[in-house]
Amino acid sequence: MKKSILITGGAGFIGSHVVKLFVSKYPEYTIVNLDALTYAGNLENLKEIEGASNYFFEKVNIQDAAALDQVFSKHGITDVIHLAAESHVDRSISDPLAFVKTNVFGTVNLLNSAKKAWAGELGNHLFYHVSTDEVYGSLEDGGFFLESTPYDPQSPYSASKASSDHFVRAYANTYQMNTVISNCSNNYGPNHFPEKLIPLCIHNIKNNKPLPVYGKGENIRDWLFVIDHARAIDTVFHQGKSGETYNIGGFNEWKNIDIVRLLCQKMDEKLGREKGTSEKLITFVKDRAGHDHRYAIDATKIKEELGWEPSLQFEEGIEMTIDWYLNNQEWLDHVTSGAYQDYYTELYENR
Ligand code: NAD
Ligand code: TYD
Repeated sequence: MKKSILITGGAGFIGSHVVKLFVSKYPEYTIVNLDALTYAGNLENLKEIEGASNYFFEKVNIQDAAALDQVFSKHGITDVIHLAAESHVDRSISDPLAFVKTNVFGTVNLLNSAKKAWAGELGNHLFYHVSTDEVYGSLEDGGFFLESTPYDPQSPYSASKASSDHFVRAYANTYQMNTVISNCSNNYGPNHFPEKLIPLCIHNIKNNKPLPVYGKGENIRDWLFVIDHARAIDTVFHQGKSGETYNIGGFNEWKNIDIVRLLCQKMDEKLGREKGTSEKLITFVKDRAGHDHRYAIDATKIKEELGWEPSLQFEEGIEMTIDWYLNNQEWLDHVTSGAYQDYYTELYENR
């Protein structure tokens, strides 16, 4: 059967890299990018492939069940890679319901459309849910998240993603749908919306604005270059076993403050500023409510069973990321105009 793959959230940060990889690597597949184009979705992320003959775009909200059914039948969708989501923890703290609507309700809508479209032949199709390591909760200074680690989400964002993971497993168990889930650590790289730590700091360093570090900056995240995540998604989609979960990570843990200092140092070099200039912008601000201390993924299973591992060293990836932002000022201008200004003022002013 010729594959017609529905990739949701394909105009977002990670989704756009997945769409670009699949459209160029698999000309024999039809790739349908379904995205509501929220503040986080941007068709400019897809310029390289927008004219490809195997690529289609549908502006649809996953909360709209009837529109989803139409897309399944119009394109004869055979498989789903589901990335559409509200993705930012700080936004989930101020508006949890938006996360329930898209991440939980929207995911169940998508599962229902797939179940309907694939009725009688569910075994020939795959529903792949792209999820986060944040579902496992927060670690102290030792240990790693394994695929068997019990779920313990701590933020409205992670609670909504945990819930959507549970629904995907429930559809596998109840209706024998072929499903696979991957839970990945923090991504960084080109096209990252500047509400997240790394692109926000790059943007602010460039503009000589304060670098807001939550609490003492001691929280730890494991970082993976976005194109390595897209490669992992390709691997899991093609080789992952139905019903399984795969953790994806970089074995690359950093304290927030050390990342911010690294960005300052690299940007001083690239912008021809005197050493130490950008570090003066570091500003410790009120901590995030319920801030998870540490995330750390054990990505042994995907390496041993499917042969995937990260291809890029962190410092190399950070250099490429900074260069991308310095060379794509127009992209940054577009995404930081209008609504971004309001968001930034509300979250950071008087913090
Ligand atoms: P993003 O916020 O950059 O992009 C999300 C995309 O989904 C946007 O294009 C947006 O327009 C679209 N979208 C949002 N609500 C929608 C709706 N109701 N209907 C249709 N489209 C909608 O997010 P991202 O960082 O690219 O993350 C993609 C996926 O990967 C998410 O499911 C996220 O939970 C997961 N994930 C992200 C990270 C990370 O570090 N960013 C790590 C692990 C997993
Ligand atoms: P973020 O990029 O929002 O990803 P996540 O919350 O999903 O891990 O944040 C990464 C870390 O950086 C997290 O510990 C919160 C911290 N942080 C700051 O210190 N300042 C900021 O302005 C932001 C956005 C995040």
